[in-house]
Amino acid sequence: MKKVLRTKASAALCVALAASAGCGDTADTAPAGALPADVARVLQGGCVSCHAATPRYGAPMPMVTYADLQRPALSNPARKVWQLMGERVHDPVRPMPPTGLAAADLAVIDAWVAAGAPACTGASCGTVTPPTGNGPSLPCVPTHTFSAHAAGSQAPFTVAGAAGNSNKCFAFRSPFNGTTQATAFGPSVNNASVLHHMILFATDTPQTEGAVFNCDGNMPRDARFVTGWAPGNMGTVLPGDVGAELPGASAWFILQVHYWNVQSAPADDASGLALCTTDTPRPHAAAVTTLGSADIAIPPRAQDHAVTGNCTPSLTEPVHIIGSGPHMHRRGTALRTEIIRGGAAQGQTTMLVDVPNFSFDAQVNYPSDTLVMPGDVLRTTCRFRNMDAQTVYFGERTEDEMCFNFVLAWPAGALSNAGGALARRCIDRAM
Ligand code: HEC
Repeated sequence: MKKVLRTKASAALCVALAASAGCGDTADTAPAGALPADVARVLQGGCVSCHAATPRYGAPMPMVTYADLQRPALSNPARKVWQLMGERVHDPVRPMPPTGLAAADLAVIDAWVAAGAPACTGASCGTVTPPTGNGPSLPCVPTHTFSAHAAGSQAPFTVAGAAGNSNKCFAFRSPFNGTTQATAFGPSVNNASVLHHMILFATDTPQTEGAVFNCDGNMPRDARFVTGWAPGNMGTVLPGDVGAELPGASAWFILQVHYWNVQSAPADDASGLALCTTDTPRPHAAAVTTLGSADIAIPPRAQDHAVTGNCTPSLTEPVHIIGSGPHMHRRGTALRTEIIRGGAAQGQTTMLVDVPNFSFDAQVNYPSDTLVMPGDVLRTTCRFRNMDAQTVYFGERTEDEMCFNFVLAWPAGALSNAGGALARRCIDRAM
């Protein structure tokens, strides 16, 4: 909840500061100067993909020049951007960048912040080159793109001005015939200044073609993750002999786009998720199986509450897991899935995926190449922090919680336990 409050505060401030233009364009009273080369290198590698001259993917301010770092922070004008930078790179809950910094890079930032962020003089200065263009693109020619659009129309979707956070859903009837496979997934970024992250779900619950709706509380219960994208994720390319099953024409896709418009003006966007597909099935068909737990009750003010869900599949042959898509809501802090070799009694484990700093805003696919053998058990553990005075339960609304790992595995459907094959979930306790 803290995050939402902060966002509102910075959005309001942004509107107050920005007379007509956007937030990054305020009159420059910050001191000029140069950045030390090592600091410039860390900003280049870890920050400027979002904190660009025109900030992207929900980042509130640019971090390109020395002056950018000397400006008052939007969320707290009493402090400078570099001061907040020194804190956020160590923030255990909301680290910057969302995927964390390497220890060597942290040391560079720490030393500079401790010295009071001095301007550089002489030969050891560096510059940051902000990205141009609109972010990553697919490594293949997409055959289908599910994009944001105005209700019932092909026109771009209009994101309201100064809207802060919003979560919009777009429904599409499946254009596939049931034999089509995906060979790659990737983003189609249109307006990076308002796009935050995107998730494509599939569902068998009937939708309305072309519908646009607020996602909160309106996601069908059977919605399953197909692919997701957050800044930094370059897309997922499947191995050459594996294709991901796509549901046929009776199913629906829901594109969930998380917007973050801090500008006062409305903005158009037609971003989406693109798929490369083939109608000549590849030797191995992969499908998404849901692991985790729906048995969630996080006590009031719990600092670190763990929820664990086991999957005991009935396997006759090995299963290849080629990707994980961890999914929790805003109280999720960490998620891991371990493979317990030979079942719980044996104790020897293989880590399938371990996300110690989970961020709702950076939900991506983690590729893997891991074998599950007959007799193995998969244990998924989610950790939550609940700042509120009431218990939080499982549910689809953002204020409810989830603990799922959507794993992409082949042979399709093999990773399932008794009764879970059709639902494509492997959760030992009944949902
Ligand atoms: C993937 C995109 C992305 C990357 C990469 C990124 N940021 Fe951010 N940053 C954001 C978003 C979105 C916000 C606003 C939400 C929030 O505060 O968590 C933000 C907010 C911040 C804030 C808070 C500003 C305020 O006024 O409160 C600081 C400081 C910051 N980032 C520093 C950094 C630094 C330093 C790096 C690199 C080491 C970095 N960020 C990398 C997206 C990013």
